Parts: sequence; structure tokens; C-alpha cells
Amino acid sequence: MKKLVVYYSFSGNTRSVARKIAQALEADIAEIRTVKSYPDDYDVLVSLGKREVESGCIPQIYPLAVNAQDYDVIVLGTPVWWSTYAPAVKTFLKNVKWGGKRVYTFATNGGSLGHTPSDFRKALRGATVPPTLSVRFDEGRQITTEHELNMWIMGIR
Ligand SMILES: Cc1cc2nc3c(=O)[nH]c(=O)nc-3n(C[C@H](O)[C@H](O)[C@H](O)COP(=O)(O)O)c2cc1C
Repeated sequence: MKKLVVYYSFSGNTRSVARKIAQALEADIAEIRTVKSYPDDYDVLVSLGKREVESGCIPQIYPLAVNAQDYDVIVLGTPVWWSTYAPAVKTFLKNVKWGGKRVYTFATNGGSLGHTPSDFRKALRGATVPPTLSVRFDEGRQITTEHELNMWIMGIR
């Protein structure tokens, strides 16, 4: 059964993890991209991100290169933004019917997943959702070991 890795990434950390997972699984891969681009200035981005998360913003995203509905097993990756998944991922979560799918979630972060795992479980109601993997970064440097990442990948069925 063909698997799909879907991710959103602003600065590349989540993209690098998503690519490793897709390569290991020989899975298809698709990036979630927002129609409106975010500011390059990190401080401006962080405060805009806060406003978006707090207001429950659902930014417009481009259609994926593939139809996520066609896959029974999906790996979904996000950066943690203000203790939850990024707004672009929120939009994607609303666009797919999740019932009956198995969804493996991972979240890159600078130290804490916050309530990302429970938010994922709520948004993915009807799907089987194993525990969210935390992949910690110090800016662009991955702190979580390759071994830990590979062990998690080996659990994907
Ligand atoms: C708007 C914004 C909010 C963030 N909030 C958190 C947070 O609440 N907890 C955390 O550990 N890291 C937080 N971070 C750090 C990112 O989760 C981390 O750098 C992530 O790996 C970035 O992924 P990316 O390079 O794929 O965009 C935040 C970053 C941004 C831009």
C-alpha cells in the first residue's frame, strides 16, 4: 500500500525530516504551501503566527500535488507554532475526510510539543492516530537523534 508524507515547513526543518521519512518508506511526498507568504523577519513571523493561532486562522493553501484522500496511511508533519500545529496544517486537516485512515504525526519544535498531540487527535477524529513524534531542533540543527527518528519510522505500517 502506497504511503503519503505530507508536511508544512516555513524554514526547512520539517521539510528535511519529511524527506528522510519519505525516502525510508519509499512513500510519496507533498508539501502544504500557503497562498499568502509569511514575512521573512523571524520576530514579525513569530508574532503574526501568535495572532493566527489565537484567532483560529485558516489560511488559504494551494491544492496538494496529490490527492490525500487516495491514501490509507499518511504521515503528517508540522512545525510547532505557539504550542500547536501550524495554521496551514489546520487548513489541510479540514480539507480531508480522515475516517478509517492511519495518520502518523510528527512535529518539529524548539523544545516543546505543547498541546500539538491532543490537537492532532481531535482534528483527526475517526482516524487511528499513534503518538506524535517530537523532533527537536536548535534553529536549523536537529537535536533528536537519527536513531530515535529511525525507530519511529520502523513502527509505520
Ligand atoms: C510562529 C512560530 C511559533 C513557534 N512556537 C513554538 C512553540 O510554541 N514551541 C516550540 O518548541 N517551538 C516553537 N517554534 C519553533 C519551531 O517549531 C521550530 O523552529 C521548527 O522546527 C520550525 O520548523 P520549520 O523549519 O519546518 O518551519 C515556533 C516557530 C515559529 C515560527
